[in-house]
Amino acid sequence: RNQTQERDNLYRTGSNILKGTRDKTKRKQAYQLLMKAADLGSTRAMEKIAYALLFGDQLPQNITAAKILYEALAEEGSPRAHTALGFIHATGTGVYPNQAKALVYYTFAAIGGNHVAQMILSYRYSAGISIPHNCEAALIQYRNVAKHVANKLTFAGGILGGKVRLTERHENPYSSDGVLDLDLYQYSKFLAEKGEVQAQVTLGQLHLVGGRGLEQDPYKAFYYFSKAVKAGSTYALAFLGKMYSEGSEAVPQDNETAFKYFKMAADRGNPLGLNDLGLAYLHGKGVPVSYTVAFQYFQKAAEKKWIDAQYQLGLMHYYGLGVRQDYALAYKYFHLASQSGHVLAFYQLAHMYATGTRVARSCHTAVELYKNVCEQGSWSEKFLSAYFAFREGDIDSSLLQYMLLSEMGYEVAQSNAAFILESKQSTIVRENQTYPLAQLLWIRAANQGNLFYTVIIIKYPSPYYTWYTKNLYSTHILCSGKQANKIHGLGEVRLIAYYWEQGFIVSLDVHLAKRFYDMALQSSQEAYAPVLLALAKLEVVHFFSEIQRASVSVTYHLLLLYSTSEHWEVFFLNVLCISLLLSIACHNR
Ligand SMILES: *[C@@H]1O[C@H](CO)[C@@H](O)[C@H](O)[C@H]1NC(C)=O
Ligand SMILES: *[C@@H]1O[C@H](CO)[C@@H](O)[C@H](O)[C@H]1NC(C)=O
Ligand SMILES: *[C@@H]1O[C@H](CO)[C@@H](O)[C@H](O)[C@H]1NC(C)=O
Repeated sequence: RNQTQERDNLYRTGSNILKGTRDKTKRKQAYQLLMKAADLGSTRAMEKIAYALLFGDQLPQNITAAKILYEALAEEGSPRAHTALGFIHATGTGVYPNQAKALVYYTFAAIGGNHVAQMILSYRYSAGISIPHNCEAALIQYRNVAKHVANKLTFAGGILGGKVRLTERHENPYSSDGVLDLDLYQYSKFLAEKGEVQAQVTLGQLHLVGGRGLEQDPYKAFYYFSKAVKAGSTYALAFLGKMYSEGSEAVPQDNETAFKYFKMAADRGNPLGLNDLGLAYLHGKGVPVSYTVAFQYFQKAAEKKWIDAQYQLGLMHYYGLGVRQDYALAYKYFHLASQSGHVLAFYQLAHMYATGTRVARSCHTAVELYKNVCEQGSWSEKFLSAYFAFREGDIDSSLLQYMLLSEMGYEVAQSNAAFILESKQSTIVRENQTYPLAQLLWIRAANQGNLFYTVIIIKYPSPYYTWYTKNLYSTHILCSGKQANKIHGLGEVRLIAYYWEQGFIVSLDVHLAKRFYDMALQSSQEAYAPVLLALAKLEVVHFFSEIQRASVSVTYHLLLLYSTSEHWEVFFLNVLCISLLLSIACHNR
């Protein structure tokens, strides 16, 4: 029994370290602990070691060794091992590609409850990759994964940052070449100590959430929020309330105190406070449940354009809490919130389309919306580690990670993997496999018909790109053009694409693009999901194109401005947090 305990302790300590840090030395130590646990017979530790061997995380990448280990684990029925073997056979990593074998492994893994495998299978069903296209089968799997993701989301807006597109690195705001090379964190700290209220609130948020490079630290969060409260910030009041409501090492869980802070913030018209007060009445935290009062607070917060409040109003209409059940109004509010990227609103809309509630049932639309929710799952963090590996010249590790994400259906990962393959820096893919695989990935990316991508690429004609990339883009545009033809109402987008091919249009006009999207949205049901997703992303791009125009310190103050203005949304704050975290992580490297 002692041995079992020791084994489990070793595993827990090791995997906790891996979860919490990107620091190389610490990760190496974690793997040493896991190896000891594996020697004592821990299957989960073996899974982690096999993963590290396959993707080259701190252990020297050795695909043969990984495969042997995974095969042993698969014998014992490990779903993760089945997924990995499916991946190895699908991509021909160290073996000859075999889609039939891959499918068998993926199916076993999916039945065993592995979410990654379920996503891979859904993508294969919906895109008809090595199995016949089957929307309903895709829907079942995606819904399952989306449910899991929706339950775990901590940010209402999901994680939007971090998916660096390698082909656009020159212009990408998230990359080291953009705004984020600035040491924003140090600068915010400096401003916060000087008494800049918004910097205090932002730092409090960052420490509350935690993440790469910046440790979650409730004490520091409390410190900064308290400072900001003294300086009169109503947001900080609401955040303090949140800390009491959730409870942590620094602050005991206390519904009454939380309520008191929410009330103070709400009384002064703060939308976050209003929203939280609504939640307190909805769930009976610190007050008796009252749907009517909750509804009123959500309405007030929604009037101030608070996205989560729009979503909550949607829910109340949907379930008839405090108001008469009304699917039409529910739809209206979910739609509104989703336009700003509220992931849970996507989830609810997907459900409405899947069941045909208030709207005509559409498996296709439901699948696209669910897919988007699934793509916010914790696995999307691999984008960061793949990107860092790429920057550090660890090309094989980066490529494999992008390929796994590609299998899961991420369009950005497909483009990135193809991009890396073409650079011919990878050694794990056989010479005569490189181009066929790259082409396959480009085609898959193009077939996803990402409407946003179509408009965005108009911004980037020449001189950064080689002929091949240009060729790709015109291929992509042709594909989207075909889709646009099929989908009535997307003719405008096609027209821009046409102009671009002729070399007329050079720069992106966000407002124009938005108008096109809106028009397309009005005139076609089919276009619903792609347009909605494109609009949500357009908001981010618009935000960054605004701040990119500004200079260093102006940039920072603009960020602050965004966070105080009436139009400030949870959404922007998320983007800001993620970008800050990313810049810190980059800096630490
Ligand atoms: C990879 O692992 C295999 C099997 O364990 C071993 O035979 C081989 O020498 C290893 N290769 C390298 C480069 O370490
Ligand atoms: C706070 O309220 C929630 C929801 O009603 C309840 O589950 C929890 O136990 C309460 N906490 C305390 C400390 O009373
Ligand atoms: C690729 O090259 C390997 C060895 O160099 C060879 O065994 C294989 O048949 C080739 N595949 C194709 C499709 O030409």
